[in-house]
Amino acid sequence: MVNVASRVRPGIDRIDPYQPGLTDDELKHRFGLTRVIKLNANENALGPSPLALEAIRRELETLHHYPDGSSELLREAIAAFHGVSKDMVLVGNGSDDLIKLVSETFLDPGDEVVVPKPSFSQYGFGAAIMRATVVPAPLRPDFSYDVEAVLERVGPRTKLVYLCTPNNPTGTILTRRELDWLLERLPQDVLVVLDLAYNDYSEHPERVVEDERLLADGRIIALHTFSKLYGLAGLRVGYGLAHSDVWSFVNRVREPFNVNRVAQRAAVAALADEEHRRRSRAHAAASRAFYARALADLGVSAPPTEANFVLAKTGDAKGTVAALMARGVMVRAGFGLPEHVRITFGTEEENAACIEAIAAFLGRR
Ligand SMILES: Cc1ncc(COP(=O)(O)O)c(C=O)c1O
Repeated sequence: MVNVASRVRPGIDRIDPYQPGLTDDELKHRFGLTRVIKLNANENALGPSPLALEAIRRELETLHHYPDGSSELLREAIAAFHGVSKDMVLVGNGSDDLIKLVSETFLDPGDEVVVPKPSFSQYGFGAAIMRATVVPAPLRPDFSYDVEAVLERVGPRTKLVYLCTPNNPTGTILTRRELDWLLERLPQDVLVVLDLAYNDYSEHPERVVEDERLLADGRIIALHTFSKLYGLAGLRVGYGLAHSDVWSFVNRVREPFNVNRVAQRAAVAALADEEHRRRSRAHAAASRAFYARALADLGVSAPPTEANFVLAKTGDAKGTVAALMARGVMVRAGFGLPEHVRITFGTEEENAACIEAIAAFLGRR
């Protein structure tokens, strides 16, 4: 028998496999529930874009054919949507895929990657598989961005800086002014991965807007996903906007058919679905207002969120998750924050049930 462990690349044994939130099926099975309220993965409570669903149905007849390996039509649609050239667009099997591809393209063992703390776990994963070192840049105690702390951590070995806005799991934003401040001071050879997975939900006047000036900065890699606002998490499709030089290298490590046919067609249709986008934004705005009021009424603090989720300080993350699970409400803990849970916005009824369950857990009702 081969000693497998001795053949594995150094560092692989130290990677913890990604722990996704429990699926609704698992929860139903574990607690004998018939219905669960799934507020643990920042999905879209309104479901997929209806135009995307139509496109998916049409595309099913052609599944015996490989996808277009370079996702031409989808990249064209994304380029037109953002007013950029097609060679500035790369699509991935979710933005997770793009994070991994960027890591594989740029990181060597010992390189440093500056990552906000707390933030999305996949940045650390990309660094770990390449044996790069994560240098955490803590957010301020109120979870706002501290760009000086980010800059202080940039050194001669820094290859990438991740900035997630609105940030997962805090919902707080990096303002365009803060981003500009940072870009003025960051070395020219440090790439900045700007993860905008939730930016479309934000209507904040100071949010990052990807204008021509920003995208002309060759250091910027702006990541987007169809998993959130467009409600297509199960299909796996995301994209990045960056200088074509960046993608010309990333493309070399990309799998030839990394985005499937159905996902490509659905994403094109979803991009054209302005009504679904508008409803999803309006729903998030209404949910933000609901949770701000309801959590404040319970004496639970939460940083101001611009996303489709809120980080609530219930005092005992594990206890909250367990108590809510027993009532069929799934929220997420972890993130190195023992007193906070992250609640994805559900339907009105689901949000009310979640608040009810938190109130019961806190003994406030
Ligand atoms: C900040 C952030 N970036 C990227 C992703 C990955 O999204 P995708 O489904 O496109 O892989 C997520 C998913 O939760 C996220 O929260």
